[in-house]
Amino acid sequence: MEYFEVINKRYSCREFKEERITREELNKILEAGNLAPTAVNFQPFKIFVIESDEILNLLSSATKYTFGAKTILCVAHNIKESWHRYKDQRDFGTFDSAIVTTQMVLAATSLGIGTCIVCSMDEEKVKNILGLGNEYIVDSLIPMGYPKNNGVHNKRKKLEEIVEYR
Ligand SMILES: Cc1cc2nc3c(=O)[nH]c(=O)nc-3n(C[C@H](O)[C@H](O)[C@H](O)COP(=O)(O)O)c2cc1C
Repeated sequence: MEYFEVINKRYSCREFKEERITREELNKILEAGNLAPTAVNFQPFKIFVIESDEILNLLSSATKYTFGAKTILCVAHNIKESWHRYKDQRDFGTFDSAIVTTQMVLAATSLGIGTCIVCSMDEEKVKNILGLGNEYIVDSLIPMGYPKNNGVHNKRKKLEEIVEYR
């Protein structure tokens, strides 16, 4: 699928078929995440693949946005490994994870797989469920699967509203 078709087709999919995506598809999606650029190439992120019924169930106590997906990715970054800007110590790990997340959801779209980026969660609960220490910040959950219905993405602002030339 051509790039502009992919970004046009991607939407937040919230209804999935029962069947889990294949390992081959999952690996392509993970590879797309691994190709993401990161600040200073520090690659401070981890992608946790959640497929076991037990952990999927536990996760639904930490967010109501699992949508019954059979595969959920969790993108987190390690604050001891991420780039902090010298002047103000701002942590760019979440920025890195956002790009990883974006590349994976777009790769999924190109394979006909639906995704939703989810940040509304009890982060401490998610960390406990996955056994993550304090050095981790959970940046996104990505429920994914074959879409149950055809969807389209939400309406966007006009270009004039978001772009300013100076
Ligand atoms: C950073 C971020 C956090 C989001 N968190 C959630 C969430 O917790 N639950 C949810 O259902 N959708 C979530 N979304 C999906 C947005 O609601 C969705 O992208 C937006 O409404 C635009 O719709 P579209 O993705 O279909 O174009 C999130 C999206 C982003 C980028």
